[in-house]
Amino acid sequence: MSPGMGMKRISSIAAQSKLTTELSRLQELNRLKAAAEERKRVEEAVKTNEALLRLFIKHTPAAIAMFDTNMRYLQVSDRFLTDYDLEGQDLIGKSHYVVFPHLPDRWKEVHRRILTGAVERCEEDPYTTSDGSTGWLQWESLPWRKGNGEIGGLILFTQVITGRKRSEEALRASEERFAKIFNLTPFRMGILRIRDGVVLEVNDAWIRDTGFARDEIINQPIFTLSSVMADSLVEQLHQVLTTQNPALDLEVRFKSKDGREVIANTSAVIIDLDGEPCYLWAANDITERKHAEEALRASESRFSIAFNSNPMLATISMLEGGRFLAVNDSFISLTGYSRAEAVGHTALELNLWPNPEVRRKVMEKLKREKRVRDFEAGIRLKNGEERMLLLSVEKIELDGQVCLLHVANDVTLRNRAEEALRALSARLRSAREEEGTRIAREIHDELGGALTGLKWDLERINTMLATATDFSDVHKRIDSMTTTIEATINTVRRIASELRPGVLDDLGLVAAIEWQVQQFQARTGLKCHWTNTVNELELDREKATAVFRILQEILTNVLRHAQAANLYVKLSRTKHHFELEVKDDGRGITRNQRMNSRSLGLLGMKERALLVGGEVRITGKEGHGTTVLVRVALSA
Ligand SMILES: Nc1ncnc2c1ncn2[C@@H]1O[C@H](COP(=O)(O)OP(=O)(O)OP(=O)(O)O)[C@@H](O)[C@H]1O
Ligand SMILES: [Mg+2]
Repeated sequence: MSPGMGMKRISSIAAQSKLTTELSRLQELNRLKAAAEERKRVEEAVKTNEALLRLFIKHTPAAIAMFDTNMRYLQVSDRFLTDYDLEGQDLIGKSHYVVFPHLPDRWKEVHRRILTGAVERCEEDPYTTSDGSTGWLQWESLPWRKGNGEIGGLILFTQVITGRKRSEEALRASEERFAKIFNLTPFRMGILRIRDGVVLEVNDAWIRDTGFARDEIINQPIFTLSSVMADSLVEQLHQVLTTQNPALDLEVRFKSKDGREVIANTSAVIIDLDGEPCYLWAANDITERKHAEEALRASESRFSIAFNSNPMLATISMLEGGRFLAVNDSFISLTGYSRAEAVGHTALELNLWPNPEVRRKVMEKLKREKRVRDFEAGIRLKNGEERMLLLSVEKIELDGQVCLLHVANDVTLRNRAEEALRALSARLRSAREEEGTRIAREIHDELGGALTGLKWDLERINTMLATATDFSDVHKRIDSMTTTIEATINTVRRIASELRPGVLDDLGLVAAIEWQVQQFQARTGLKCHWTNTVNELELDREKATAVFRILQEILTNVLRHAQAANLYVKLSRTKHHFELEVKDDGRGITRNQRMNSRSLGLLGMKERALLVGGEVRITGKEGHGTTVLVRVALSA
């Protein structure tokens, strides 16, 4: 205001100003009143809001706490109390650090930062719970401000996520465990998507065992490997993928990359992989076991062939108790016992040993040695007949049990043949001696006699010549000597021809046979029928002699045994053989006589033929005669 102003003006101004002052006081009063009313309204609203906030905080289903700048609780939600085991306690006004005396420093740091304006959160934060275990929190905290913008404290939102965290950890642990098992297990494992058969994963064992690289199979349909799979496996896989059933203990065969056969025992279960149904398969390699089994089976079948179709008789029995575990076909056909009758029984029960002493000896020898070889032992057949066996016994182990493998040869026939041979050679020896004796006697009687007579004649002639005048007596004596000498020459011829059929050398085989047959007819009166289609023969002396001697033996037999009226002799030849057939119409040789090992005459014929590579076949029918066929190969 300026000092040059008039009083009136001043008073008017004063009056005016007083009025104005009054007016403004009034206005101020009104304003104050309005403000007071407003404040009251605001205060009430604030009170309402605070009550609402407290209510909201108390009942909100999250853990919320509100602190002042000294970290004293202003508000706290029920959930907060339950989460931290503080139910029933009144925290309001208490210090957070008193309530939680062991709060880590890093959190106190956090609080300080927030009280200076920071906003912080943490997704996973470990803490020690009231019982000392580790819990996990997710939290967020921010400052709250007063009306004037000043920071009044902080609000803390927390969520205990220990449960979730644990189950996540459990899941991770189980996934880790699975991954570990998946890759460390010696079993081959893999995961196969059912929808399209694509292999999602295979483990290290699979890679190692199959020799395929990871990218040759991962993310490829399993059928990419069809070429190395057994046909049956491809089929099985198609089936497993379409039926979608868990598969247990499938035997799976395929070839590894380097061509080895791989056999696995495989099981598969259905698992869910991110919502996609898949097979998780695990395979146990059984290649070696399988191959061993197959080798065993093969060897068993080889053994069983060797055992069963062995022409020798074979049995397997337990050492302990002696029960038969197996007998072969030869055993069955020789003894007459069926397999059912033999297996499970002992030799003693079947009464197989005619001589228990032999059995005792065999068993005793077996106690000392691992095997017994070529033991002659009798065996009694089911029909009571006895046979001679050449027995070998060996101790073998079968499924951990000591067993005996008996192998035997029926040597009855061989023994009989040997016997026959022995008899034959004895007879040949005695025949030769007889022959010698006979020839000696003949030489002695006939030649000796004749020569003695001749000597006597000569002495007489000598005496006669000294005294006689008439020589007619001398002439007579010389004539008689000539007769004696002629007879002696004949005797010598006869003896010589018996020693070796001279006709053979003189006439050849065909004519010698004809001559022999004629002689036979003349001597016996049997009617002989002669058929010959052979002119010339290329037969060496040995063969010719054999045929001739056999013929003589046949004729002797006919004379001695046949009581025949007719004899049919036929000579023929084929491209490579000469055949002599002699047939009589006598009583006929029987089978027994033919087969008898004591028929030494017949055996001798056969032997003779065999010695020159030929054969003798004898047939006959009782009442219908006997036929003997002699066959030798022509000399080349
Ligand atoms: N032609 C035949 N007709 C009928 N039976 C015969 C004939 N030849 C042989 N047999 C029978 O066969 C048996 C065996 O003949 P084999 O020549 O071996 O013996 P064997 O003539 O009796 O005596 P040997 O040893 O002296 O020859 C004879 O005993 C006889 O019973
Ligand atoms: Mg005879």
